[in-house]
Amino acid sequence: MILDPSSVPERQAYRLMISAFIPRPIAFVSTVSRSGIDNCAPFSYSMGVSSHPMVLGVSVGDRDTHPKDTTRNVLDTREFVVNLVTESIAEKMNIASGDYAPDVSEFDEAGLARAPSEVVRPARIANSPVNFECRLVRAVRVADNTVFFGEAVRLHVDDRVLTNGIVDARKLHAIGRLGGPQYCRTQDVFEMVRPRVTGPKSARPTDAR
Ligand SMILES: Cc1cc2nc3c(=O)[nH]c(=O)nc-3n(C[C@H](O)[C@H](O)[C@H](O)COP(=O)(O)O)c2cc1C
Repeated sequence: MILDPSSVPERQAYRLMISAFIPRPIAFVSTVSRSGIDNCAPFSYSMGVSSHPMVLGVSVGDRDTHPKDTTRNVLDTREFVVNLVTESIAEKMNIASGDYAPDVSEFDEAGLARAPSEVVRPARIANSPVNFECRLVRAVRVADNTVFFGEAVRLHVDDRVLTNGIVDARKLHAIGRLGGPQYCRTQDVFEMVRPRVTGPKSARPTDAR
């Protein structure tokens, strides 16, 4: 199959995109409204953008009649927390993805515990072992989405998922989003050592990534 994505109906393009571009990490984003309602919702159009400064990107689509609570809250407060989703909180994350009224807190609906953040106002999701407290650096409109770039001003990692100072996938048990209602686990880990290239190209600046 070869197609021009702009020529297919929106719904089909969405289904093709989310089933083909896999697996996606899930940014479980917590925010707080101007009136103090704690909000959280999952977003799999998310990515790491930069390491130093540490910047994450989260893309939030428009709703038909009103903005998603996450969009409104981030634009109002310029702060959010990205919490990682693990197998143990997958069901709660799914509950939190419902389209609840703005005055309903998904923390309470899903039975998620709040943990205070150090620098930003939105609470962290205590049940998640990795939390990035973010300050908005830029919001960019892309079609009917707003992409929020946030600089992590605090990173919290539960010591139980660390090995030698870095996050150990085998301990973390993160889940990824696939197409439709499908998810994947991250326990089938394998390793590859990158080639060391010698010769003229090695004159490039050192790149450890
Ligand atoms: C695993 C998962 C990933 C999702 N990813 C996105 C996404 O990347 N962008 C988006 O706009 N909505 C995404 N959603 C839907 C939002 O979570 C949903 O619209 C939610 O109600 C938004 O909540 P809010 O109004 O509190 O911000 C996703 C839902 C699930 C379950």
